[in-house]
Amino acid sequence: MQAMKSFRETLSSAKNILILTGSGISAESGVPTFRGAGGFWRKYKAPSLATPEAFSANPSLVWEFYEYRRTLVSKVKPNKAHEAIAEFQTRLHDEGKNVTIITQNIDGLHQKAGAKDVIELHGSLYRTRCTKCKAIKYNDNIPICPALEGKISPEPDFISSGVPLEELPRCEESSCKGLLRPDIVWFGEGLDSKVLDKTRDAVDSCDACLIIGTSSVVYPAAMFAPQVASRGIPVAEFNIEVTPATREFQYHFEGPCTITVPEALAV
Ligand SMILES: NC(=O)c1ccc[n+]([C@@H]2O[C@H](COP(=O)([O-])OP(=O)(O)OC[C@H]3O[C@@H](n4cnc5c(N)ncnc54)[C@H](O)[C@@H]3O)[C@@H](O)[C@H]2O)c1
Ligand SMILES: [Zn+2]
Repeated sequence: MQAMKSFRETLSSAKNILILTGSGISAESGVPTFRGAGGFWRKYKAPSLATPEAFSANPSLVWEFYEYRRTLVSKVKPNKAHEAIAEFQTRLHDEGKNVTIITQNIDGLHQKAGAKDVIELHGSLYRTRCTKCKAIKYNDNIPICPALEGKISPEPDFISSGVPLEELPRCEESSCKGLLRPDIVWFGEGLDSKVLDKTRDAVDSCDACLIIGTSSVVYPAAMFAPQVASRGIPVAEFNIEVTPATREFQYHFEGPCTITVPEALAV
């Protein structure tokens, strides 16, 4: 409790706060993390489908997986941690202070809670990218195309329905018709350079930092909070367990983030 009081005092004198979030912040909204018990879809480990190799080997299977995730996320609501962050950002903005939110999540729940200018490190479930002309488009249609309707069962014995390539989501730019993919940074792919620049600025300029619901094993996202800590800036980790990075941070608040984060931010 002493640590929470101390961190709240730190926050009340900070002017430039960085909040980094990972999939753990959305777990209590009902979005499974990759590393927990919900890390399987059908017989596949979820991260094994989030790769360019999986998409080129079987685009239908990967689209079925993402259609499943889009459908799931469209039904869930932001939780008390997302809400506390959005309220905190608005309140501090009104006081002339700055709160930057950088998320590894692709679920849009920070924005749904009202957060502004969220930096999405790994892209979004609600954008597509054309594999041919590279056009990026917002798309929240469910189903994203008629052929994927009813093909998203997560059951382990479900066999991929093998939607033909021409019936998968296709580019609507005139005369392109290229195959679309989710605008998501898959394992093995690099982050967008503009997103990285904004992130570096935030990492270099913040005077307090929260890292919430991330296992600190997915790079480069995992190195940002340790970089902040190495400048001597107070960093508070919120997680249900210790992580490989815990010992680098000044504060560690263990427990569900819907409890710990609202407590920390109600300054
Ligand atoms: N919601 C999403 O958008 C979503 C979901 C799964 C995976 N992903 C993507 O996959 C990548 C890796 O995924 P991952 O699941 O290993 O994420 P991760 O590496 O961010 O790990 C999740 C962390 O959250 C913690 N956690 C779980 N429930 C919590 C709670 N209620 N309160 C506080 N902490 C909690 C776990 O202990 C774990 O350390 C992410 O970087 C992301 O791009 C996104
Ligand atoms: Zn195109």
